Amino acid sequence: MNISVPKEIAPGERRVALSPDVAGRLVKAGNAVTVERGAGDAAGYRDDEYAAAGATLASSAAETYGGAGLAVKVQRPLADGNDELRLLPEGAALVAFLNPLGDPQYIDRLAQRKITGLSMELIPRISRAQSMDALSSQATVSGYKSVLLAADALPKFFPMLMTAAGTVPPAKVLVLGAGVAGLQAIATARRLGAIVTGFDVRAVVKEQVESLGATFLGSPPQDAEGSGGYAKELAADQQQRDQGLIATTATNMDVIITTALIPGRPAPKLITATAVQNMRPGSVVVDLAAEAGGNCELSEPGATVVRHGVTIAAPLNLASTMPQHASMLYAKNVLALLSLLIKDGTLTLDMNDEIARSVCVTRDGEILNEAVRSRLQGVGA
Ligand code: NAI
Repeated sequence: MNISVPKEIAPGERRVALSPDVAGRLVKAGNAVTVERGAGDAAGYRDDEYAAAGATLASSAAETYGGAGLAVKVQRPLADGNDELRLLPEGAALVAFLNPLGDPQYIDRLAQRKITGLSMELIPRISRAQSMDALSSQATVSGYKSVLLAADALPKFFPMLMTAAGTVPPAKVLVLGAGVAGLQAIATARRLGAIVTGFDVRAVVKEQVESLGATFLGSPPQDAEGSGGYAKELAADQQQRDQGLIATTATNMDVIITTALIPGRPAPKLITATAVQNMRPGSVVVDLAAEAGGNCELSEPGATVVRHGVTIAAPLNLASTMPQHASMLYAKNVLALLSLLIKDGTLTLDMNDEIARSVCVTRDGEILNEAVRSRLQGVGA
């Protein structure tokens, strides 16, 4: 199979889809891997490392895409401006974060070009697919980094310190949404010595929060678990009750990290403008849900603002700020997926297999994903 790794050209993207190690493994498995020159530069992977692993280096995006039976990317090829997507030959396959529910028109375009679209967001949450789960691997990176951002912006220490000049109390951190990113944020904040509280709407999370040495907010825990291990949207009155509980707790916090997401929906607003107003000056909010509109009413996606003396950071694509490990993990996810899907050098999609069926959004000119189809028709959006 001819596997191509183009350079990422989306603004701010520093990751690369394959590490030299994984490129080498795919070559050893009998594939031809072509990497665009400089593709790994921003992640700290040099061209000569790819070449030493047995990959061929291509000098341009056109050359890289041109020979692709399968292109592997982190961000989907851009479909506007210089139209990166056009470089991918008709009939080829594409692995990337395709954002199928957020942008069904893009998926329609893939279908029209007879591209087999394999969406990394749609890896099912089953144990057999854990090694392929790129949402989780990248959320691990952003959860960790969110705490470092918060610690940097906070005009205080995280740990308790007993010094000759007096005792410094530990920082108090609240983590809203304790999925993959949230649990990593809790663990990181604990390692830095903070006193941590966690909150989620899925009841199963309480034990996980407590096992990391944090306190769970809200008793008894709610249970808004939907399908696939994800949360579902709350009724308006429940959401208001949660906002009230969070607002009261926020007055006593130094840092709030928010990670709450509902697949295919806007992020729930958990921190109201009034709650921010009542926080102590110097406090910090890091909103990891910025890409879905944010969990804080005062977040400005992509920016850091100060409101009522509170620093509110709403970074986009935080995983890209730690590109070396983020790429390494993503590449391992892709390797695990391709090891399942490539048989005897051919992409073989067995639609009886839950993983293949879930990730494949387009094939032979058809949109296979029901949710994408109904969104395209304006139903269920
Ligand atoms: P996510 O990124 O979709 O959401 C983050 C967190 O926000 C979730 O824990 C969710 O319950 C929470 N949330 C949603 N609405 C909320 C609200 N209104 N208030 C407070 N919290 C809210 O979820 P993520 O992190 O991708 O994964 C969720 C869970 O899926 C994991 O904790 C895990 O149990 C499961 N999972 C299973 C895998 C497997 O079996 N292969 C792999 C990865 C995750």
